Amino acid sequence: MKRLTIWVACMLTLAGCTLAPGTAEPEDSELIVVGFSQVGAESEWRVANTESMRAALCEANGYELIYDDARQEQENQIRAIRSFIQQDVDYIVLSPITESGWSSILQEAKSADIPVILVDRCIEVADESLYTAYIGSDFSKEGEMAVQWLDAQLERQGRTKEPLNIVHIQGTLGSSAQIGRSGALENAVRSHANWRLIAQEDGDFTRAKAYEVMTDIVKKDAQIDVVYCENDGEALGAIDALEQAGYKCNVWDGVIVVAFDATNLGLNYCLDGRISLNVECNPLQGPYVADIISALEQGAPIEKVQHIDETLFDCFTITQQIIDARAY
Ligand code: AHR
Repeated sequence: MKRLTIWVACMLTLAGCTLAPGTAEPEDSELIVVGFSQVGAESEWRVANTESMRAALCEANGYELIYDDARQEQENQIRAIRSFIQQDVDYIVLSPITESGWSSILQEAKSADIPVILVDRCIEVADESLYTAYIGSDFSKEGEMAVQWLDAQLERQGRTKEPLNIVHIQGTLGSSAQIGRSGALENAVRSHANWRLIAQEDGDFTRAKAYEVMTDIVKKDAQIDVVYCENDGEALGAIDALEQAGYKCNVWDGVIVVAFDATNLGLNYCLDGRISLNVECNPLQGPYVADIISALEQGAPIEKVQHIDETLFDCFTITQQIIDARAY
């Protein structure tokens, strides 16, 4: 199926997608066939990520995209990759649910001579030649930005000596996003004598799961100072449970809620003060993948590992204008 030849101009209206800036409209062209195995649709972030991939790898830009939603199961991702290999696609793009368990299937892709581009999360393999490139977030750096902000904020509040009770709601266990963000918090807890992890639960990056685990935690009626949630969906679920149990969520006289992603909804919670800090995780990764493929097509050198620049937003500086100016 490699290099699907079609008359692209005819397909532009049918595809309903626009040419990327600077892309010349091809007339009689060959489409690059890409199989994309996505984790699922567990969060608002993930939906934005899928849309970005679909927009960048559309027919008008010269691609035939075969999309597979793994519904949060690694088995489904492995099955999808095997099917991409059978279809003899030109490239496989994989957003791996967890870091481990990829060697055999990626060896199959390598034997079939199909380059694999990892997007969003990375993998742990002994043989790094099993993937061609990785583009995604630096999750450890995101976690470090969060704990440094928390440290500075507590210092401003004169709370460096009093016991600090932290609830930690983790993302999907074994995913790069969880490993990086959890690692930063756990290191910070080790290096602060007054920081205590009073609960650590898996929220699976979903609002529903975080609501469920937080509902159990608040039943213990504990003093909770900080809730560190590994994405916006989890923060929203945790806030629902905390508020139902009578806790206030704010940095001034309530629970300090830390979140990751900085989606539109998450930043609106930041604007009304219920999320104190929101560390950005940029889902708009489609154009980066298209750039990598285009460089590979031209035989140009590529960087094997690329991290996207990201920032943070807090309840003190966020404004409606900032939210409105953002693309997701
Ligand atoms: O891997 C990125 C993480 O996965 C995002 O933080 C989260 O929202 C998503 O589900």
